[in-house]
Amino acid sequence: MNKGLFITFEGIDGCGKTTQLNMLNKYLQDKGYETVLTKEPGGKGLGEKIRNILLNYDGEVSDRCESFLFLADRAQNIDLIVNPAIRQGKIVLCDRHTDSTLAYQGYGRELDLAQIKKLNDLATNGRKPDITFIFDVSLETSSKRVGKDKDRMEKSGKDFFQRVRNGYLKIAQNEPQRVKVINSEKSIDEVFAQVLKYINEII
Ligand code: TYD
Repeated sequence: MNKGLFITFEGIDGCGKTTQLNMLNKYLQDKGYETVLTKEPGGKGLGEKIRNILLNYDGEVSDRCESFLFLADRAQNIDLIVNPAIRQGKIVLCDRHTDSTLAYQGYGRELDLAQIKKLNDLATNGRKPDITFIFDVSLETSSKRVGKDKDRMEKSGKDFFQRVRNGYLKIAQNEPQRVKVINSEKSIDEVFAQVLKYINEII
């Protein structure tokens, strides 16, 4: 049986990570690997309900409440989807994970970074991604790709997203072994070539 792998996809809204996740999924399946796709917030079941609140609730939401909802969804995703799949030797591709909370709630909403890290550890029960890709784009590219139809998070403003982007780059600097920054201003195929370079080193 193959050794399970946990791969996470990160970046600001509109960075193109979901397209890359789907391309990598096809590549791995064509090579005969068993894969599981999941996302945060909202892998499935209860997670989808938490996702709906986080993205669509139109009343006031405190920054700490927002954090706990993302974390609750994460615990559910780890326990019910990620860990069981990894135990079965599958490759889990997860659209957003702990680094989203550090980047968006920590750097973006300016909550205490050390506390967010501790809460992430509680939510994941110690499970860590084997590799994380941060798809880096400028704010201009991001906002062009997101367009006018924005969800609650996407309405957070330019300064917020600048902090989130810088936060992601700091996360990568702090953990270069796990976290790889991918220049996503390039074409879809050029971006995917950067992803494959790292993937072929670990599969
Ligand atoms: P989603 O539609 O999944 O965005 P995308 O397609 O860009 O991944 O919405 C998820 C939103 O939630 C996105 O704006 C990032 C945000 N988010 C956080 O703020 N903190 C978190 O911990 C997670 C997982 C997501």
